[in-house]
Amino acid sequence: MQALKITDKVYWVGAIDWNIRDFHGYTTDEGTTYNAFLIVDEKIVLVDTVKHGFFDQMAARIKSVIGDKKIDILISNHSEMDHTGVIRETIAEFKPSKIYASMMGVKTLQEHFGLIENLEGVADGAEVNIGKETLVFMDSKMLHWPESMICLMKNENLLFSNDIFGMHYASNKHFDDEVPQEIWYKEAKKYYANIILPYSNIVKAFLAKVKAKGLAPKIICPDHGIIWRKNPQLIVDLYATFAEQKATKKALVIYDTMWGSTAKMAASITDGLSSKGIEVKEFSLRATNRSEVASEILDSAALIVGTPVLNQEMYPSLGDTLTYLKGLKKTNLLGMVFGSYGWSPMAITNLQKFVETMGVKIVKEPTTSKFVPTEEKLKECFEAGVFMAEEIGKNL
Ligand code: FEO
Repeated sequence: MQALKITDKVYWVGAIDWNIRDFHGYTTDEGTTYNAFLIVDEKIVLVDTVKHGFFDQMAARIKSVIGDKKIDILISNHSEMDHTGVIRETIAEFKPSKIYASMMGVKTLQEHFGLIENLEGVADGAEVNIGKETLVFMDSKMLHWPESMICLMKNENLLFSNDIFGMHYASNKHFDDEVPQEIWYKEAKKYYANIILPYSNIVKAFLAKVKAKGLAPKIICPDHGIIWRKNPQLIVDLYATFAEQKATKKALVIYDTMWGSTAKMAASITDGLSSKGIEVKEFSLRATNRSEVASEILDSAALIVGTPVLNQEMYPSLGDTLTYLKGLKKTNLLGMVFGSYGWSPMAITNLQKFVETMGVKIVKEPTTSKFVPTEEKLKECFEAGVFMAEEIGKNL
């Protein structure tokens, strides 16, 4: 296992997790990386570690640079287990004399791992000299944990950004100029939608703070996925766009179905939307994971949700995905619900109430069908799609 040189002083010494397909409920079809970085100056510094189970990979890469030397400083920008899961093994092997985390990071690390010797909190703006280089620490509170911080190498103008600007993407190509844009865009969008979206207002404030300080890093090293060395401004600008949550001419139709009735209704609604030039993503929630839906909701203008009635309740898969989406707090969504029922449509009314609690603006009464939708009912669904398309048009 070899380290990868980023600059004369900085190396990637992380781990590639090729086979992870479920990252705490987020589907990672392309795997992920846990990025750790080694700075070799008068002092040797390790920025972040890796997930439990990947210590050997990280340690071998570190040793490919420094041999049997110890590490002087370990920086923990973020306490979540995918970056700290091997902190005990790292301390035991490389014996850092100082471990830095944010003030809150100190507390969080101890809540995870118990007492850690040589652990010291650094304030927002604190600087640590490591030889020719100086490291500057900056709070990045709630991006995406309360204790998150970032760290800038002053002279090289290289930013270690923890989870910010990351993506779940396993590859032996580690740089933005080595990965096609359509791939990194898709993965960066999915990552933003699933991890960062609830904190979009904080992203805006963070980007404004970075701009006010005149910071424009030459290289950005996130804790997952590719390193931005060719054009780091691309990902910064993309975050500014994502944070705006601007709707496009796009609708999301999500549903589950028992005997095909709700699926037929979904198809007719999609037809109605399409007839007015709206881009539609139609997902059966039995076939599509919540994190895929989240990715598509980021630039959607409308959320249209359908369910059959099962034991007087919405279908369980709806509960899963809608609960997840509610936590992501997407703004600027119009909505309607639909579904089929046998005895009582009450669960469809309750579905609408739930969708309202997500902050979605309901603009149409539910479209419902008793058992199998007739041709007339499917026409009504088509017209509901047309109506939603017109509402989307008015709202853009
Ligand atoms: Fe990649 Fe929030 O951990």
